[in-house]
Amino acid sequence: MAQQNPFVYGEIVTSGAFADREAERERLASDLGEGQKVFLISPRRYGKSSLVRDVLRGLARQRVLTVEVTVAASSSYVGFLEAYARALVTADTPVARLRRWTTELLDAVRPELRMETPAAGHGASGPGRVTLAFPAIRTARDTARLAAEVFALPGRIATARGQRLAIALDEFQAIAAFDEGNVEHALRAAVQDQRSVGYVFAGSEPSLMERMLEARRPFYKAGPVIRLGKIDEDVFAAFIDERFRSSGVKPEPGLGEAIVDLAGNVPYDVQRLAHETWDDVRVAGLKSAGLDDLHATLTRLLGEHQTAFEEAWQRRTLSQRAVLRALVLEDGRELLSADVRSRHRLPGASSVQSSLAALVKQDIVMKEDGRYLVSDSLYREWVARKTF
Ligand SMILES: Nc1ncnc2c1ncn2[C@@H]1O[C@H](COP(=O)(O)OP(=O)(O)O)[C@@H](O)[C@H]1O
Ligand SMILES: [Mg+2]
Repeated sequence: MAQQNPFVYGEIVTSGAFADREAERERLASDLGEGQKVFLISPRRYGKSSLVRDVLRGLARQRVLTVEVTVAASSSYVGFLEAYARALVTADTPVARLRRWTTELLDAVRPELRMETPAAGHGASGPGRVTLAFPAIRTARDTARLAAEVFALPGRIATARGQRLAIALDEFQAIAAFDEGNVEHALRAAVQDQRSVGYVFAGSEPSLMERMLEARRPFYKAGPVIRLGKIDEDVFAAFIDERFRSSGVKPEPGLGEAIVDLAGNVPYDVQRLAHETWDDVRVAGLKSAGLDDLHATLTRLLGEHQTAFEEAWQRRTLSQRAVLRALVLEDGRELLSADVRSRHRLPGASSVQSSLAALVKQDIVMKEDGRYLVSDSLYREWVARKTF
């Protein structure tokens, strides 16, 4: 059988493809097990969802009932409540019991449960798609009542089943867009009484998430906060080398380190470069991989992204382009200084500042330890090589 690529990106990674995060794993598992309300914060692509999935799997093995919902996947508040209620009622519930169980739990808000029977011929014996809707909800008051019912569900399920729950609300910052902040009040009020239910609120926009935790906001001091940083560089590099080795491709000295460095040590970008390099090397029938192979792969990837990157570049204003380029060449430091501004023909400090703010807001650039970095390491390389 052909060796499988040992590097995974663009989807949640667990078990074998998962590196490090030992301390965070233990901490999150014990907090959730104790029924804490945990906030997990990091920029995108650092590994929140993967960490959460891994921890929930561990808890499920200890008979904790686990539920995962991505808040940002819903286009409205009611849509989110439907998705959340559906995830809660279907969690580990036999299909035959689903209708009665849903009625038992949600009768007050008149749920409409639909179960598609699986298409014949696929050999499917599992349940078909289940949808849950609340057609009786019309006004804002109805919605608030529905929210109170749905947010109380985990506690009722824990009692009815005599089981602890662990709930992950992923991309939680999206909650801020619903219903002018009342959601936060309603949710906080409900969760604080649920002793046997652990929650992890994972969010990708650190500034939005931090603001949610400020004084006078509902979630102020609601529970522990885990700020997920990058994976230790050396640990990650060794992990990459080891995975090359154990999949039959000998890494030349420094390969793992170069991959981690070129990828800005963002987990997604590291796995992408490793995955693509591994593929190229295998297709070429090579038994080892070195820095030349890495750079050949990088060149291929830049070529494949050329159109998308060009479009992204042209959507920026001239001043944003200049700031972006200077930021790449200066490693994100001292961008407001007179020296850097004159070297890169940048506008006045206040325009540089507002361009930076716009780039951060659009998630093209992020701020880390006082430095500005391009969020996508591939785009950073493209800007360095293809723009003037
Ligand atoms: N612990 C890890 N070890 C190795 N790779 C990881 C790890 N965590 C994340 N990744 C890589 O990063 C990618 C994005 O992870 P994800 O969990 O989706 O991040 P987030 O939820 O923070 O956006 C994954 O597809 C995987 O390639
Ligand atoms: Mg995620």
